[in-house]
Amino acid sequence: MEDGFPASKTFNQGYSLTYDDVILLPHYIDFPTDAVSLSTSLSRNVPLSIPCVASPMDTVSEAHMAASMAALGGIAIVHYNCTSSQQASIIRSAKALRVPITPSVSFASPVDGLPAYHGRYVFITESGGLPSKLLGYLSSSDFENLKDKPVKIFDYKRDCKSVEYVNWDCDLGKIETLLDEKDSDFVVLERDGEAVNVVIKEDVERLKGYPKLGAGTVGADGEWMVGAAIGTRESDKERLEHLVKAGANVVVLDSSQGNSIYQIEMIKFIKKTYPQLDVIGGNVVTMAQAQNLIQAGVDGLRVGMGSGSICTTQEVCAVGRGQATAVYKVSSIAAQHGVPVIADGGISNSGHIVKALVLGASTVMMGSFLAGSTEAPGAYEYKNGQRVKKYRGMGSLEAMTKGSDQRYLGDTAKLKIAQGVVGAVTDKGSVLKFIPYTMQAVKQGFQDLGASSLPSAHELLRSGTLRFEVRTGAAQAEGGVHGLVSYEKKSF
Ligand code: XMP
Repeated sequence: MEDGFPASKTFNQGYSLTYDDVILLPHYIDFPTDAVSLSTSLSRNVPLSIPCVASPMDTVSEAHMAASMAALGGIAIVHYNCTSSQQASIIRSAKALRVPITPSVSFASPVDGLPAYHGRYVFITESGGLPSKLLGYLSSSDFENLKDKPVKIFDYKRDCKSVEYVNWDCDLGKIETLLDEKDSDFVVLERDGEAVNVVIKEDVERLKGYPKLGAGTVGADGEWMVGAAIGTRESDKERLEHLVKAGANVVVLDSSQGNSIYQIEMIKFIKKTYPQLDVIGGNVVTMAQAQNLIQAGVDGLRVGMGSGSICTTQEVCAVGRGQATAVYKVSSIAAQHGVPVIADGGISNSGHIVKALVLGASTVMMGSFLAGSTEAPGAYEYKNGQRVKKYRGMGSLEAMTKGSDQRYLGDTAKLKIAQGVVGAVTDKGSVLKFIPYTMQAVKQGFQDLGASSLPSAHELLRSGTLRFEVRTGAAQAEGGVHGLVSYEKKSF
């Protein structure tokens, strides 16, 4: 019985389709949701237990995001909108955060005054952050006494004699027992004489309340796997050397149009210099682009041009592709060479993740979906009564001023033209909580399609068993919440 259309027909009609343009028809269920496996690969030699990747953006992927994504079984790609030593230090720090909790305390350097926000404690470290040597701390009651006094924080610190230290790879259970036994409110996790994290009792309770984590993404070095982004300039070769020494497990060549001589030469250089390191090329949206990078030797392909929530590339340059079409087209050629595809950008709900994976991607890369989380860099602020965090495109003028311009400009370009915007996204809480719920929703989508794993979904796609239809505007409106005066948007 013919119903709906196979992908080969749906995506070959001359239209550039986005995730929202298409809908999948349900298939046959003969297994429970929990039988669905989402284990996958980021690139040829980097296996993941969930298909989630945090984007190399300076408002998304730094140490806490990288450690948390790895703890969840995914991975983060650390951005390079900073010096190579800063990027290397973020990677080192992420790999050492075995208890992937974002500290609910603040940090200051010895020369700082009292910070405006301090939480329960302020820890004074040599560098004013982590990882660093711990020099002392102040509690919130100390703060009450010092309020409004023009003091140097260091003069009033408590010393560290009574502080409990544990090794960096101590697990949460042991930390909890220690806090109880010593009747202590916090414990400092230490590696090579430096504090790498501080866990307070409240953090332990919070983490225990989150869904149980599965297998984390651990590399051959026994530490979290962390990816790093670089550009294709000569100086990026030197940067890469730092990053490899810091323990980067995979490198992403970050470009909005990856099909270039610069990228092809860089791929060849990396494969020759670091044969053990997986290289992900991109971004690409066509089969011809993909073919060139595959021939150059990439281990993974990043797909998307102008589909990101903060992107203006399609408007500014008139170039790009609807993300559903791009993922389907590139995946069909990449699969022939065993190269995993990352569907990058345009993910705003679990349905988009299902569509990206079913269309042939092995993982999804997310920016806005993760940017409002506790683990994203930056502080929360209030806008129109909502708690938000800044999220900006790496091609926004603001980010390019800090150095990210090589993703969007040719080597010789002198005039900066923005291909992204600066905005804010609402507080989403911890990725350690909302990613497991999101994965459960993705599993339910797979179950509806009769696909018990990514390889089985890809096989159903190839055989034409999965059927699609393009949704009209009215069908899209019907597929969302409609006809209500108001509603509470809560999924879990
Ligand atoms: P989402 O939709 O997850 O997209 O927020 C994240 C992806 O968007 C890309 N990106 C940009 N694209 N201008 C662009 O055209 C930009 O300024 C920009 N910054 C990020 C990038 O691929 C990212 O993973």
